[in-house]
Amino acid sequence: MQYRNLGKWGVKLSTIGLGSYLTIGMHVDDETAAECVRVAFDGGINWIDTANAYNNGGAELALGRILQDYDRDDYVLATKVWAPMGEGANDRGLSAKHVFEQCHASLRRLQTDYIDLYQCHRPDPETPLEETIRIMEDLARQGKILYWGTSEWPAELIQEAVDVAKMMGCRPPVSNQPRYSLMWREPEDSVFPTCLKNGIGNVVFSPLAHGVLTAKYEPGEPPPEGTRAADESQNRILMDLYWTDENLRKVKKLEEMAGDLGLTAAQLSMAWCLRHPALTSVISGVTKVSQLEDNLGAAEAEIPDDVYEALCELFPGSEESAAP
Ligand SMILES: NC(=O)c1ccc[n+]([C@@H]2O[C@H](COP(=O)([O-])OP(=O)(O)OC[C@H]3O[C@@H](n4cnc5c(N)ncnc54)[C@H](OP(=O)(O)O)[C@@H]3O)[C@@H](O)[C@H]2O)c1
Repeated sequence: MQYRNLGKWGVKLSTIGLGSYLTIGMHVDDETAAECVRVAFDGGINWIDTANAYNNGGAELALGRILQDYDRDDYVLATKVWAPMGEGANDRGLSAKHVFEQCHASLRRLQTDYIDLYQCHRPDPETPLEETIRIMEDLARQGKILYWGTSEWPAELIQEAVDVAKMMGCRPPVSNQPRYSLMWREPEDSVFPTCLKNGIGNVVFSPLAHGVLTAKYEPGEPPPEGTRAADESQNRILMDLYWTDENLRKVKKLEEMAGDLGLTAAQLSMAWCLRHPALTSVISGVTKVSQLEDNLGAAEAEIPDDVYEALCELFPGSEESAAP
Protein backbone atom coordinates (compact mmCIF):
# COMPACT_ATOMS: atom_id res chain seq x y z
CA MET A 1 0.00 0.00 0.00
CA GLN A 2 1.11 3.55 -0.60
CA TYR A 3 0.21 6.59 1.47
CA ARG A 4 -0.16 10.20 0.35
CA ASN A 5 -0.63 13.42 2.24
CA LEU A 6 -4.15 14.76 1.94
CA GLY A 7 -3.23 17.59 -0.43
CA LYS A 8 -0.72 19.79 1.40
CA TRP A 9 -1.99 18.72 4.82
CA GLY A 10 -0.23 16.49 7.33
CA VAL A 11 -2.59 13.55 7.57
CA LYS A 12 -1.65 10.59 5.35
CA LEU A 13 -4.24 8.46 3.56
CA SER A 14 -3.78 5.13 1.82
CA THR A 15 -4.18 5.58 -1.92
CA ILE A 16 -7.21 3.29 -1.68
CA GLY A 17 -9.96 4.00 0.85
CA LEU A 18 -12.91 1.79 1.74
CA GLY A 19 -16.34 3.24 0.90
CA SER A 20 -19.81 2.38 2.13
CA TYR A 21 -22.41 3.73 -0.34
CA LEU A 22 -25.10 1.06 -1.03
CA THR A 23 -22.86 -1.58 0.56
CA ILE A 24 -21.93 -1.58 4.28
CA GLY A 25 -25.08 -1.28 6.39
CA MET A 26 -27.31 -1.76 3.33
CA HIS A 27 -26.83 -4.44 0.63
CA VAL A 28 -23.86 -6.11 2.35
CA ASP A 29 -24.57 -8.07 5.55
CA ASP A 30 -22.67 -7.17 8.72
CA GLU A 31 -20.51 -10.30 8.68
CA THR A 32 -19.26 -9.65 5.13
CA ALA A 33 -18.86 -5.95 5.90
CA ALA A 34 -16.74 -6.76 8.97
CA GLU A 35 -14.62 -9.10 6.85
CA CYS A 36 -14.20 -6.35 4.21
CA VAL A 37 -12.99 -3.94 6.90
CA ARG A 38 -10.56 -6.55 8.22
CA VAL A 39 -9.18 -7.31 4.73
CA ALA A 40 -8.98 -3.57 4.01
CA PHE A 41 -6.96 -2.86 7.16
CA ASP A 42 -4.78 -5.97 6.66
CA GLY A 43 -4.11 -4.75 3.12
CA GLY A 44 -2.94 -1.36 4.37
CA ILE A 45 -6.10 0.71 3.79
CA ASN A 46 -6.15 3.27 6.60
CA TRP A 47 -9.28 5.26 5.88
CA ILE A 48 -13.01 4.73 5.54
CA ASP A 49 -15.57 6.91 3.79
CA THR A 50 -19.21 7.07 4.75
CA ALA A 51 -22.07 9.60 4.98
CA ASN A 52 -24.91 10.28 7.38
CA ALA A 53 -27.36 9.76 4.51
CA TYR A 54 -26.12 6.32 3.37
CA ASN A 55 -29.16 4.17 4.09
CA ASN A 56 -30.37 6.97 6.33
CA GLY A 57 -27.69 6.41 8.99
CA GLY A 58 -27.48 2.63 8.41
CA ALA A 59 -23.94 2.71 7.01
CA GLU A 60 -22.64 4.74 9.96
CA LEU A 61 -24.42 2.44 12.42
CA ALA A 62 -22.86 -0.67 10.85
CA LEU A 63 -19.41 0.91 10.75
CA GLY A 64 -19.82 2.04 14.35
CA ARG A 65 -20.36 -1.59 15.39
CA ILE A 66 -17.55 -2.99 13.23
CA LEU A 67 -14.94 -0.39 14.15
CA GLN A 68 -15.23 -1.12 17.89
CA ASP A 69 -12.75 -3.96 17.25
CA TYR A 70 -10.02 -1.56 16.11
CA ASP A 71 -7.81 1.05 17.73
CA ARG A 72 -9.22 4.50 16.88
CA ASP A 73 -5.72 5.86 16.23
CA ASP A 74 -5.18 3.36 13.42
CA TYR A 75 -7.68 4.69 10.89
CA VAL A 76 -8.96 7.92 9.43
CA LEU A 77 -12.75 8.18 9.51
CA ALA A 78 -14.54 10.39 6.99
CA THR A 79 -18.26 11.09 6.87
CA LYS A 80 -20.56 13.66 5.28
CA VAL A 81 -23.40 16.04 5.94
CA TRP A 82 -25.90 17.88 3.69
CA ALA A 83 -28.37 15.29 2.34
CA PRO A 84 -31.89 15.19 3.82
CA MET A 85 -32.13 13.23 7.09
CA GLY A 86 -35.81 13.99 7.76
CA GLU A 87 -38.82 15.91 6.50
CA GLY A 88 -38.26 19.11 8.51
CA ALA A 89 -37.13 22.40 7.01
CA ASN A 90 -33.85 22.15 8.94
CA ASP A 91 -33.19 18.47 8.32
CA ARG A 92 -30.85 19.08 5.39
CA GLY A 93 -28.20 21.41 4.02
CA LEU A 94 -25.18 23.13 5.51
CA SER A 95 -26.69 25.51 8.07
CA ALA A 96 -24.91 25.70 11.44
CA LYS A 97 -27.96 24.11 13.06
CA HIS A 98 -28.07 21.07 10.76
CA VAL A 99 -24.29 20.56 10.60
CA PHE A 100 -23.99 20.80 14.42
CA GLU A 101 -26.86 18.37 15.02
CA GLN A 102 -25.78 15.88 12.35
CA CYS A 103 -22.19 15.94 13.54
CA HIS A 104 -23.38 14.76 16.95
CA ALA A 105 -25.75 12.23 15.38
CA SER A 106 -22.88 10.83 13.26
CA LEU A 107 -20.63 10.61 16.33
CA ARG A 108 -23.34 8.61 18.12
CA ARG A 109 -23.96 6.29 15.17
CA LEU A 110 -20.23 5.78 14.59
CA GLN A 111 -19.62 5.31 18.35
CA THR A 112 -16.62 7.60 18.29
CA ASP A 113 -15.52 10.88 19.92
CA TYR A 114 -14.36 12.60 16.76
CA ILE A 115 -14.58 12.54 12.97
CA ASP A 116 -11.27 12.91 11.15
CA LEU A 117 -12.70 14.36 7.95
CA TYR A 118 -16.15 15.97 7.83
CA GLN A 119 -17.27 16.53 4.25
CA CYS A 120 -19.98 18.79 2.85
CA HIS A 121 -21.73 16.25 0.58
CA ARG A 122 -22.86 18.93 -1.91
CA PRO A 123 -23.00 22.75 -1.88
CA ASP A 124 -25.94 24.45 -0.14
CA PRO A 125 -26.83 27.63 -2.05
CA GLU A 126 -29.34 28.56 0.69
CA THR A 127 -26.68 28.91 3.40
CA PRO A 128 -23.91 31.54 3.32
CA LEU A 129 -20.43 30.02 3.10
CA GLU A 130 -19.46 32.01 6.20
CA GLU A 131 -22.00 30.08 8.29
CA THR A 132 -20.75 26.64 7.19
CA ILE A 133 -17.10 27.63 7.57
CA ARG A 134 -17.76 29.00 11.08
CA ILE A 135 -19.55 25.84 12.29
CA MET A 136 -16.76 23.66 10.88
CA GLU A 137 -14.23 25.81 12.76
CA ASP A 138 -16.30 25.60 15.96
CA LEU A 139 -16.67 21.80 15.69
CA ALA A 140 -12.91 21.52 15.16
CA ARG A 141 -12.20 23.70 18.21
CA GLN A 142 -14.58 21.52 20.24
CA GLY A 143 -12.58 18.44 19.20
CA LYS A 144 -15.51 16.92 17.31
CA ILE A 145 -13.84 17.02 13.89
CA LEU A 146 -10.23 17.41 12.78
CA TYR A 147 -10.54 18.48 9.14
CA TRP A 148 -13.38 19.43 6.83
CA GLY A 149 -13.79 19.06 3.10
CA THR A 150 -16.18 19.31 0.19
CA SER A 151 -17.76 16.85 -2.24
CA GLU A 152 -18.84 17.65 -5.79
CA TRP A 153 -18.35 21.37 -5.26
CA PRO A 154 -17.57 23.37 -8.40
CA ALA A 155 -14.11 24.90 -8.72
CA GLU A 156 -15.29 28.50 -8.14
CA LEU A 157 -17.01 27.58 -4.87
CA ILE A 158 -14.00 25.64 -3.61
CA GLN A 159 -11.83 28.71 -4.31
CA GLU A 160 -14.36 30.97 -2.58
CA ALA A 161 -14.42 28.68 0.48
CA VAL A 162 -10.63 28.83 0.73
CA ASP A 163 -10.62 32.63 0.38
CA VAL A 164 -13.49 33.24 2.82
CA ALA A 165 -12.01 30.86 5.43
CA LYS A 166 -8.70 32.72 5.20
CA MET A 167 -10.45 36.07 5.60
CA MET A 168 -12.29 34.74 8.68
CA GLY A 169 -9.15 33.21 10.19
CA CYS A 170 -10.84 29.79 10.03
CA ARG A 171 -9.65 26.38 8.79
CA PRO A 172 -10.11 26.02 5.02
CA PRO A 173 -11.40 22.84 3.34
CA VAL A 174 -8.57 20.31 3.02
CA SER A 175 -10.20 17.82 0.67
CA ASN A 176 -12.68 17.43 -2.15
CA GLN A 177 -14.59 14.31 -3.15
CA PRO A 178 -15.62 14.35 -6.82
CA ARG A 179 -16.77 11.59 -9.15
CA TYR A 180 -13.72 10.55 -11.19
CA SER A 181 -12.85 7.63 -13.42
CA LEU A 182 -11.82 6.81 -16.98
CA MET A 183 -15.49 7.31 -17.83
CA TRP A 184 -15.88 10.58 -15.91
CA ARG A 185 -12.96 12.98 -16.39
CA GLU A 186 -14.79 16.26 -15.78
CA PRO A 187 -12.80 17.26 -12.65
CA GLU A 188 -9.66 17.53 -14.79
CA ASP A 189 -11.00 20.73 -16.39
CA SER A 190 -11.19 23.12 -13.43
CA VAL A 191 -11.75 21.25 -10.12
CA PHE A 192 -8.38 19.48 -10.06
CA PRO A 193 -6.37 22.59 -11.08
CA THR A 194 -8.13 24.62 -8.35
CA CYS A 195 -7.43 21.93 -5.77
CA LEU A 196 -3.79 21.66 -6.82
CA LYS A 197 -3.40 25.43 -6.54
CA ASN A 198 -4.79 25.43 -3.00
CA GLY A 199 -3.21 22.22 -1.68
CA ILE A 200 -6.56 20.42 -1.45
CA GLY A 201 -6.44 16.62 -1.77
CA ASN A 202 -8.98 14.77 -3.90
CA VAL A 203 -10.44 11.49 -2.63
CA VAL A 204 -12.49 10.38 -5.61
CA PHE A 205 -15.65 8.29 -5.77
CA SER A 206 -16.91 5.73 -8.28
CA PRO A 207 -13.42 5.05 -9.70
CA LEU A 208 -14.83 1.91 -11.35
CA ALA A 209 -17.93 3.66 -12.78
CA HIS A 210 -20.11 1.60 -10.40
CA GLY A 211 -18.40 -1.60 -11.53
CA VAL A 212 -18.65 -1.05 -15.31
CA LEU A 213 -14.85 -0.64 -15.54
CA THR A 214 -14.25 -4.10 -14.04
CA ALA A 215 -15.18 -5.65 -17.42
CA LYS A 216 -17.76 -7.94 -15.82
CA TYR A 217 -20.50 -6.70 -18.17
CA GLU A 218 -20.71 -7.97 -21.76
CA PRO A 219 -21.64 -5.68 -24.65
CA GLY A 220 -25.13 -6.47 -25.97
CA GLU A 221 -26.01 -8.65 -22.99
CA PRO A 222 -28.12 -7.93 -19.91
CA PRO A 223 -26.17 -7.55 -16.65
CA PRO A 224 -25.72 -10.73 -14.58
CA GLU A 225 -27.98 -11.16 -11.54
CA GLY A 226 -26.49 -9.95 -8.28
CA THR A 227 -24.60 -7.03 -9.82
CA ARG A 228 -25.33 -3.34 -9.27
CA ALA A 229 -26.30 -2.98 -12.93
CA ALA A 230 -28.97 -5.68 -12.61
CA ASP A 231 -30.66 -4.15 -9.56
CA GLU A 232 -33.19 -1.45 -10.40
CA SER A 233 -33.05 -0.10 -6.86
CA GLN A 234 -29.32 0.69 -7.31
CA ASN A 235 -28.58 1.08 -11.02
CA ARG A 236 -30.09 4.43 -12.02
CA ILE A 237 -26.80 6.40 -12.07
CA LEU A 238 -24.91 3.51 -13.64
CA MET A 239 -27.47 3.21 -16.44
CA ASP A 240 -27.72 6.98 -17.00
CA LEU A 241 -23.99 7.71 -17.05
CA TYR A 242 -22.16 4.64 -18.29
CA TRP A 243 -24.34 1.89 -19.79
CA THR A 244 -23.75 1.99 -23.54
CA ASP A 245 -22.55 -0.78 -25.83
CA GLU A 246 -19.73 1.48 -26.94
CA ASN A 247 -18.52 1.86 -23.34
CA LEU A 248 -18.81 -1.87 -22.67
CA ARG A 249 -16.77 -2.58 -25.81
CA LYS A 250 -14.09 -0.09 -24.76
CA VAL A 251 -13.88 -1.78 -21.38
CA LYS A 252 -13.09 -5.06 -23.14
CA LYS A 253 -10.15 -3.28 -24.79
CA LEU A 254 -9.13 -1.93 -21.37
CA GLU A 255 -9.25 -5.49 -20.01
CA GLU A 256 -6.85 -6.64 -22.76
CA MET A 257 -4.47 -3.79 -21.94
CA ALA A 258 -4.65 -4.71 -18.26
CA GLY A 259 -3.95 -8.36 -19.05
CA ASP A 260 -0.80 -7.39 -20.94
CA LEU A 261 0.46 -5.73 -17.75
CA GLY A 262 -0.56 -8.65 -15.53
CA LEU A 263 -3.36 -6.55 -14.04
CA THR A 264 -7.14 -6.81 -13.91
CA ALA A 265 -9.39 -4.18 -15.49
CA ALA A 266 -10.33 -2.88 -12.02
CA GLN A 267 -6.70 -2.53 -10.99
CA LEU A 268 -5.72 -0.72 -14.18
CA SER A 269 -8.73 1.62 -13.91
CA MET A 270 -7.92 2.62 -10.34
CA ALA A 271 -4.19 2.90 -10.99
CA TRP A 272 -4.99 5.20 -13.95
CA CYS A 273 -6.91 7.54 -11.60
CA LEU A 274 -4.04 7.56 -9.11
CA ARG A 275 -1.62 8.86 -11.75
CA HIS A 276 -3.27 12.28 -11.58
CA PRO A 277 -1.26 14.56 -9.26
CA ALA A 278 -4.45 16.07 -7.78
CA LEU A 279 -5.40 12.70 -6.30
CA THR A 280 -4.78 11.54 -2.78
CA SER A 281 -6.91 8.39 -2.93
CA VAL A 282 -9.61 6.45 -4.76
CA ILE A 283 -12.55 5.17 -2.73
CA SER A 284 -13.37 1.54 -3.32
CA GLY A 285 -16.91 0.28 -2.76
CA VAL A 286 -17.28 -3.52 -2.71
CA THR A 287 -19.98 -6.11 -2.15
CA LYS A 288 -17.57 -9.04 -1.80
CA VAL A 289 -14.22 -9.60 -0.11
CA SER A 290 -12.84 -10.97 -3.41
CA GLN A 291 -13.58 -7.59 -5.07
CA LEU A 292 -11.61 -5.78 -2.41
CA GLU A 293 -8.71 -8.21 -2.80
CA ASP A 294 -8.76 -7.49 -6.53
CA ASN A 295 -8.91 -3.71 -6.06
CA LEU A 296 -6.12 -3.67 -3.47
CA GLY A 297 -3.79 -4.73 -6.30
CA ALA A 298 -4.20 -1.24 -7.80
CA ALA A 299 -2.14 0.34 -5.02
CA GLU A 300 1.16 -1.05 -6.26
CA ALA A 301 0.34 -1.13 -9.99
CA GLU A 302 2.73 0.79 -12.22
CA ILE A 303 1.34 2.02 -15.55
CA PRO A 304 3.85 2.74 -18.33
CA ASP A 305 3.43 6.17 -19.97
CA ASP A 306 2.34 4.73 -23.33
CA VAL A 307 -0.44 2.71 -21.68
CA TYR A 308 -1.53 5.73 -19.65
CA GLU A 309 -1.77 7.81 -22.80
CA ALA A 310 -3.57 5.06 -24.72
CA LEU A 311 -6.16 4.90 -21.95
CA CYS A 312 -6.62 8.68 -22.06
CA GLU A 313 -7.35 8.33 -25.77
CA LEU A 314 -9.66 5.34 -25.35
CA PHE A 315 -11.75 7.24 -22.78
CA PRO A 316 -11.22 10.89 -23.80
CA GLY A 317 -12.02 13.74 -21.44
CA SER A 318 -13.20 17.12 -22.69
CA GLU A 319 -10.96 19.17 -24.99
CA GLU A 320 -9.88 21.27 -22.01
CA SER A 321 -8.69 18.22 -20.06
CA ALA A 322 -4.94 18.17 -20.00
CA ALA A 323 -3.54 14.77 -19.19
CA PRO A 324 -0.89 15.43 -16.52
N1 LIG B 1 -19.49 11.92 -2.43
C1 LIG B 1 -20.43 11.32 -3.10
O1 LIG B 1 -21.42 11.92 -3.54
C2 LIG B 1 -20.32 9.83 -3.36
C3 LIG B 1 -21.13 9.22 -4.32
C4 LIG B 1 -20.96 7.85 -4.54
C5 LIG B 1 -20.03 7.14 -3.80
N2 LIG B 1 -19.26 7.76 -2.85
C6 LIG B 1 -18.25 7.03 -2.04
O2 LIG B 1 -17.34 6.37 -2.92
C7 LIG B 1 -17.35 4.96 -2.70
C8 LIG B 1 -17.16 4.25 -4.00
O3 LIG B 1 -18.22 4.57 -4.92
P1 LIG B 1 -18.85 3.45 -5.83
O4 LIG B 1 -19.42 2.38 -4.97
O5 LIG B 1 -19.73 4.09 -6.81
O6 LIG B 1 -17.49 2.90 -6.51
P2 LIG B 1 -17.14 1.98 -7.74
O7 LIG B 1 -15.82 1.40 -7.40
O8 LIG B 1 -17.24 2.75 -9.00
O9 LIG B 1 -18.28 0.85 -7.77
C9 LIG B 1 -18.36 -0.07 -6.70
C10 LIG B 1 -19.19 -1.29 -7.11
O10 LIG B 1 -18.60 -1.95 -8.25
C11 LIG B 1 -18.60 -3.36 -8.05
N3 LIG B 1 -17.19 -3.77 -7.89
C12 LIG B 1 -16.21 -3.15 -7.17
N4 LIG B 1 -15.03 -3.78 -7.31
C13 LIG B 1 -15.24 -4.81 -8.15
C14 LIG B 1 -14.39 -5.82 -8.69
N5 LIG B 1 -13.11 -5.87 -8.40
N6 LIG B 1 -14.95 -6.73 -9.54
C15 LIG B 1 -16.27 -6.68 -9.85
N7 LIG B 1 -17.12 -5.76 -9.36
C16 LIG B 1 -16.61 -4.82 -8.52
C17 LIG B 1 -19.43 -3.62 -6.80
O11 LIG B 1 -20.82 -3.66 -7.15
P3 LIG B 1 -21.67 -5.02 -7.45
O12 LIG B 1 -20.93 -6.19 -6.85
O13 LIG B 1 -22.97 -4.73 -6.78
O14 LIG B 1 -21.79 -5.08 -8.94
C18 LIG B 1 -19.19 -2.34 -6.01
O15 LIG B 1 -20.15 -2.08 -5.03
C19 LIG B 1 -18.70 4.71 -2.02
O16 LIG B 1 -18.69 3.52 -1.27
C20 LIG B 1 -18.85 5.95 -1.16
O17 LIG B 1 -18.11 5.82 0.05
C21 LIG B 1 -19.40 9.10 -2.64
